[in-house]
Amino acid sequence: MESNKRPENMARIESAAQAQAFIDEQVAAVRRQVGDKKVLLALSGGVDSSVVAALLIRAIGQNLVCVHVNHGLLRKGEPEQVVEVFRGQMNANLVYVDAVDRFLDKLAGVADPETKRKIIGAEFIRVFEEEARKQDGIEFLAQGTIYPDILESGPVKAHHNVGGLPDDLQFELVEPLKFLYKDEVRVVGKALGLPDGMVYRQPFPGPGLGVRCLGAITRERLECVRASDAILREEFAKNGLEGKVWQYFTVVPDFKSVGVKDGKRTFAYPVIIRAVNTKDAMTATVEDVPFALLEHITDRITKEVPGVNRVLYDLTPKPCGTIEWE
Ligand code: XMP
Repeated sequence: MESNKRPENMARIESAAQAQAFIDEQVAAVRRQVGDKKVLLALSGGVDSSVVAALLIRAIGQNLVCVHVNHGLLRKGEPEQVVEVFRGQMNANLVYVDAVDRFLDKLAGVADPETKRKIIGAEFIRVFEEEARKQDGIEFLAQGTIYPDILESGPVKAHHNVGGLPDDLQFELVEPLKFLYKDEVRVVGKALGLPDGMVYRQPFPGPGLGVRCLGAITRERLECVRASDAILREEFAKNGLEGKVWQYFTVVPDFKSVGVKDGKRTFAYPVIIRAVNTKDAMTATVEDVPFALLEHITDRITKEVPGVNRVLYDLTPKPCGTIEWE
C-alpha cells in the first residue's frame, strides 16, 4: 500500500522554482497513474480543490471533470469566480450544478447546528453522486487532501472529501497534494497561475454560510449574511487587514431588535462581526480592529443591507467562544 507519510527527504516548497519542480513531478505522476482515463473532482473553489484542479488540468486537460456544486451557502461572488477562473481562463471541463433550491428546501425549518451540517454534507454527496452517474468512463476521483488532513482530522474539516459515495462509485483516488502543508499548497497554486483571491483566502467551513445564518435558515437572513460578509471583506481588503487577520466573517441570529430609521420604528435583524487570529484554530484571539473602521462598516451594513438595523462586534476569544457561532 502507498505510504501516507511525507518522505523524510522532501524539501519544503517555498519558492516559485520549487513549486515548478513539484508541479512537473506531479504532472508526470498523475499522467502515469491515470493514463488516458477520466478523473472526477468536486471543485468547491476553496484553496485545496482549486489547486488540485489547476494541477490536473495541466496534467490531463479535458479528462478532468470538475463538478462545482452551488449549494446556496457560498460567499458572494464565489460560484461566479469558479466558473470564470476554471471555465473562462483555464478551459476546464466544468459541470456547474445549481442546487440552491434543493439545499435550502432540505434545510427549511431545521435549527439544530449538527443536523444542519449533516443535511448539507449528505445532500452534497447526493448531488455529487448524481453528477458522477451522468459521466461515462470515470475511473478516478481526485481530492484536495493535504498533509494536515492525514495527520489529524482536526477542527478544520476536509470538506472537499467526498468519501461516503456508494460502493459502486468507489474510484481510485488521485491526491497530488497529500504531502503538502497549507502554505506549500498556496505557493503551488500561485505557480499554477491561480488568482491571489483564491490562493490566499481565509478558511471557510464546508457548511459555508449555513452555520452563520443561525438557527433555521431563511433566504432573507441568508442574504443578510452574504451581503454583510461581502461588505466586511471589502473593507478589510481596503484597509490592509485581508492578509493579516486569520478569519473574519459575519453572523446573523434568528431574532430581531427594535431600531429607528427616517423617523420610523424598525424591527430587524442584527449582524455580528467576528474577526480572529489563531495558529491552529484550537485557540483564538480577537483582532483589535480600529474603532473608526468598525463604525464605517456598521454604517455601510445598516445602510446597504436590507433587513438589518444593528451591528455588533464579538469580543470573545476561543476559549470560551468557538470561532463559529454554531
Ligand atoms: P470552531 O468554531 O470550532 O472552528 O472554533 C474552528 C475552525 O473550523 C472551522 N469549522 C468548520 N470547517 N466544517 C468545516 O469544514 C465545519 O463544520 C466547521 N465548523 C467549524 C471554522 O471556520 C474555524 O476555521
